[in-house]
Amino acid sequence: MEQTLVLLKPCTLQRGLVGEIISRFEKKGLRLAGMKMMQLTDAILNEHYAHLREKPFFQMLKDSMMATPVIACCLEGVEAVRVVRAMTGATNGRNADPGTIRGDYCVSNQQNIVHASDSLETAAVELARFFKPEEIFSYTPSNMNFMYALDER
Ligand code: TYD
Repeated sequence: MEQTLVLLKPCTLQRGLVGEIISRFEKKGLRLAGMKMMQLTDAILNEHYAHLREKPFFQMLKDSMMATPVIACCLEGVEAVRVVRAMTGATNGRNADPGTIRGDYCVSNQQNIVHASDSLETAAVELARFFKPEEIFSYTPSNMNFMYALDER
């Protein structure tokens, strides 16, 4: 099973969409292995968005991510990284396909509801950035036999 990081961004908290977005991941069948509210800092965002530090929108992006606390989630499932990215949709909500989270809930490139890890390697680094090991929980969903065939997990 893979684990991946999702951050529900400040725009999601402000717009009262937290429950709806988490519900989409739950209904899909992803297991919630960790979840917490946190106020992000300049330091953690410098790390998290290091690949964007030369971009003109970098400071604006960081400010938008510090506007309120965020909700960090660890989601688990077979091929969870790819599944969650597909559910998230293209970065710009105006380009994201209908049916994706960004396609259904936003019209912005920056106020785009969620962050989702983009590879298995990134997911491991990002989960360690936002969660202590003891904040990620291992338990077996009681409906597991109805979520996956025996040869899928
Ligand atoms: P990026 O890692 O390229 O996209 P994604 O979140 O889809 O993995 O960018 C990170 C965040 O930076 C993105 O979610 C929103 C913000 N951003 C802007 O504000 N303006 C932009 O032009 C781009 C490309 C991203």
